[in-house]
Amino acid sequence: MAQTAGNSSYPTAPPLRPSGGGGESPLLLRGIAKSFGAVQALSSVDLDLPAGKVTALLGDNGAGKSTLVKLISGIFAPDEGSIIWEGEPVRLRTPKEASELGIATVYQDLALCDNLDVVQNMFLGREIVRSGVMDEAEMETVASRTLEDLSVTTLSSTRQLVASLSGGQRQAVAVAKAVMARARLVVFDEPTAALGVSQTAMVLDLISRLADAGMAVMVISHNLNDVFRVADRLAVLYLGQIAAEGPISGFDPANVVDLITTGKSARLAPSQPGMEAAGKEEEQP
Ligand SMILES: Nc1ncnc2c1ncn2[C@@H]1O[C@H](COP(=O)(O)OP(=O)(O)OP(=O)(O)O)[C@@H](O)[C@H]1O
Ligand SMILES: [Mg+2]
Repeated sequence: MAQTAGNSSYPTAPPLRPSGGGGESPLLLRGIAKSFGAVQALSSVDLDLPAGKVTALLGDNGAGKSTLVKLISGIFAPDEGSIIWEGEPVRLRTPKEASELGIATVYQDLALCDNLDVVQNMFLGREIVRSGVMDEAEMETVASRTLEDLSVTTLSSTRQLVASLSGGQRQAVAVAKAVMARARLVVFDEPTAALGVSQTAMVLDLISRLADAGMAVMVISHNLNDVFRVADRLAVLYLGQIAAEGPISGFDPANVVDLITTGKSARLAPSQPGMEAAGKEEEQP
């Protein structure tokens, strides 16, 4: 990547412009299985994460959501199946390999450094250096511009220590860092779980804006209100298997609750184009 220390020309973040809708899926999962000892955390998981769309991943505690995120972000390797990135099967051996491909993960307990300020966090490991000296002014300009592009206006200064930021502001900094690193897929694990009402609204807005700019976005959430506000597509994991997946228009809160708690729903509309539902096999005569 070009964005390393010692580089004199820092490529600015891609402009956040509407991309005109969904596109191809940069990431496809096919036949993914992962077990921990006797626990089969995931089996036969197929999932597409299309560009320009927010895909929500739902499931009860222990359904396998975080395990799936860890496979996508290079923390675990699958026992079986393929991870296909931009048309090529890939092995993600480390989080660094995933991030170099363009996969960014925003965790609830974010990997930001409390004792550094916003700019330092955004450029950690990718500092702009000119003639052996860090170009603080340039880094501050690029950081501010990226936050502005994301319409993040609640930070009083990019020189604020991250320790002093609210949960929502920390998420915003983590997202801006991903945008600067030219992520093509951004994965959020429970982004709003610890946030208040206005911060939740800000983070959901940020999530929509990333998809509008053409990125593929995956969001894990237990909050159905958030999911129905922000998601274009929905996938439900039940005991490590995909119980249903498809466009959000094929779901409502009642059938989603059925799918989360039982893995099937008699109320699921089976005729949605692109809808794959385990539940439709369970129809009674
Ligand atoms: N590192 C691990 N070692 C052993 N078992 C694990 C490990 N990580 C996850 N598991 C098991 O795999 C299953 C899926 O866990 P996972 O954390 O993916 O669930 P989840 O859907 O994220 O749940 P939650 O909503 O509670 O976060 C669980 O049974 C869990 O106990
Ligand atoms: Mg989890």
